[in-house]
Amino acid sequence: MTTFFHFSDFHILPEKGMVREEGNPCNKIEKIIQLAEDTGVKPAFSIITGDISQNGSTSGYKIAQEYISQIESLGGPVLPVMGNVDNRTRFRENLLREKNSGETPCYYSKTIDGVRVMVLDSQNPGKETGALLGEQLNWLEKELSVDVEPTIIALHHPPFKLHLPNGGTHLVFDPENMERFQKIVKNSNVVAVLCGHLHQSLISMSEGVYYIVGCAALSELFIGMKEYRTYDSSGFTQYTLHEDQITVRPVIYTEGRPLIKTRSI
Ligand SMILES: [Fe+2]
Repeated sequence: MTTFFHFSDFHILPEKGMVREEGNPCNKIEKIIQLAEDTGVKPAFSIITGDISQNGSTSGYKIAQEYISQIESLGGPVLPVMGNVDNRTRFRENLLREKNSGETPCYYSKTIDGVRVMVLDSQNPGKETGALLGEQLNWLEKELSVDVEPTIIALHHPPFKLHLPNGGTHLVFDPENMERFQKIVKNSNVVAVLCGHLHQSLISMSEGVYYIVGCAALSELFIGMKEYRTYDSSGFTQYTLHEDQITVRPVIYTEGRPLIKTRSI
């Protein structure tokens, strides 16, 4: 049995006291780290599914390092994932301690406590939508063709089409890339695909694969019938993997869940 934590969408600004429309990102991250500590659970590892430093600022990554150390002190290593607002070079230098690796996609895998975590980089430079560029999909296909440990895939953009109650759909991924990704993952030993970007706790199951979007630290998005609503709410997700069963437990914090803004669809 393995328990791990999933954090997402920190959106750290270059200085700690800085505030944006959604509030002070650092205060929110500190709050959810406190919530994680309060669980009393010792995670085998933690994943942060991207959008860590807003505009990829170095000072934002320095602040992120502090929070990563605090999360590591709860138990296990922290596996960071690239988001659309991150910067590959600075992400690598500051969070992965790699140098001179340029702008190639940042993907890797790590096996911890019998679970293999495959981290992908869905950043599609210049675009807000995701794609898996470079050799990533070939690497994923090759790695998954060998039946090893149960595998969790972590990437920022959700690689599935979201069907909404108003009959519309919401797609944030390159369609061709998404199709190939889904084909590779289907019938593999992938237990779940973890993502962020949508700022909401959401589970979708398609062709035997669980796609799980984790709560964001910054805010919560609700896609209504006619508008997007942004709430002041922060959270993280706790997972327990036991044989072929995965249990997902969002832990959410809000003071009155104030509505920050609405935007028509
Ligand atoms: Fe994002």
